[in-house]
Amino acid sequence: MSDRAPTNSSEGSPMPHDTRVHPPVASVSTHAAVATAGVKIHCQDVSAYYGDKQALYDITLDIPDRSVTAFIGPSGCGKSTFLRCINRMNDTIPGARVTGRIEIDGQDVNASDVDPVVLRSRVGMVFQKPNPFPKSIFENVAYGPRIHGLASGKTELEGVVESALKKAGLWTEVADRLHQPGTSLSGGQQQRLVIARAIAVQPRVILMDEPCSALDPIATARIEELIDELRQQYCIVIVTHSMAQAARVSQRTAFFHLGNLVEQGTTEEIFTNPREKRTQDYITGRYG
Ligand SMILES: Nc1ncnc2c1ncn2[C@@H]1O[C@H](COP(=O)(O)OP(=O)(O)OP(=O)(O)O)[C@@H](O)[C@H]1O
Ligand SMILES: [Mg+2]
Repeated sequence: MSDRAPTNSSEGSPMPHDTRVHPPVASVSTHAAVATAGVKIHCQDVSAYYGDKQALYDITLDIPDRSVTAFIGPSGCGKSTFLRCINRMNDTIPGARVTGRIEIDGQDVNASDVDPVVLRSRVGMVFQKPNPFPKSIFENVAYGPRIHGLASGKTELEGVVESALKKAGLWTEVADRLHQPGTSLSGGQQQRLVIARAIAVQPRVILMDEPCSALDPIATARIEELIDELRQQYCIVIVTHSMAQAARVSQRTAFFHLGNLVEQGTTEEIFTNPREKRTQDYITGRYG
C-alpha cells in the first residue's frame, strides 16, 4: 500500500466547502464495526471555534482501544484542533471553545469534576518536535509518576522509569547515561524519551501530532515500530501528512477536510476503496 503514497501535491484545493459527510447507513455500520473492537473514545457532534472562526464542524467519531487511528487531511483542516479537544489542550488557548461531547471509557472529558491536569496525564500527547524537559533522562520520565504519586520510594520509581524506557524501546541506549540531559539525545531518541514520559504515568490514550515529521527515515522507522508495539496496550491516535505512514502504522483512518470529517473506516478501506471523491483525491495526491 505504501507505494501508492503520494507526495503532498501543492495544487490548490478547488473543493467547495461542502459540509455533511456520512450517509447515515455508512456511519451506523462503521460504528458497529468499531464497537466490537471496544470503543475507547466516543466523540459526538464536536465543534471547535477560535473566536468567531469555526475550525471543526460536528465531528462524530468512535476511536477503538488497542489500535492506531490515523487522522489525515490537508493543512489547516483541523486535525491538531481535534486532537487537542480529546485532552482539553484547547482550554489553554485564549478564545478557543469546544462544543459537543467527548467520552473516554464512557466518561465525559468536559465534566466539571474532571481535572484537566489529570486528564492530560491519562491522555498523553507527543508533538512534532520532541520536547524533553531541561532535565536528565531519568528525571524526564520520573517527573510525572512522582507528581501523580505513582511510585512510593526511590526503588519503585527507578523501576517505573526503567519499565517506561523499555516500553519506549530506549532503555538499552540510555541505561548507562540516565543522568545526562534529555536534550543530549538524538532527535529520534528524544521522541522515544517523550513517549516514555507519556507512558510512565499509565495513560489510557496516546495522541501523536506528526511525531515523525522532524525525524530522518531510520528514526521514523524506529518510532513506527514502537507505535506498532504500543498498540497492543494503548489507544493511539496519530496525525500524519505521510500517506505511506498512515498505511503502515494505522488500522483505521479518518480523513478531514475544511473542518469536516469526510470519511472514516479501516485503513485498508480508506486507501483502497474510499467512498468519497475528496478522500480519493487527497490520498492520491491530487491536492494537499
Ligand atoms: N491557536 C489558534 N488560534 C486561531 N486559529 C487557530 C489556532 N490554531 C488553529 N487555528 C485555525 O484552525 C484551523 C485548523 O487548524 P489546525 O492546526 O487544527 O489544522 P491541522 O489540520 O492540524 O493543520 P496542519 O496539518 O497544518 O498541522 C486553521 O484554520 C487554523 O488557522
Ligand atoms: Mg496540525
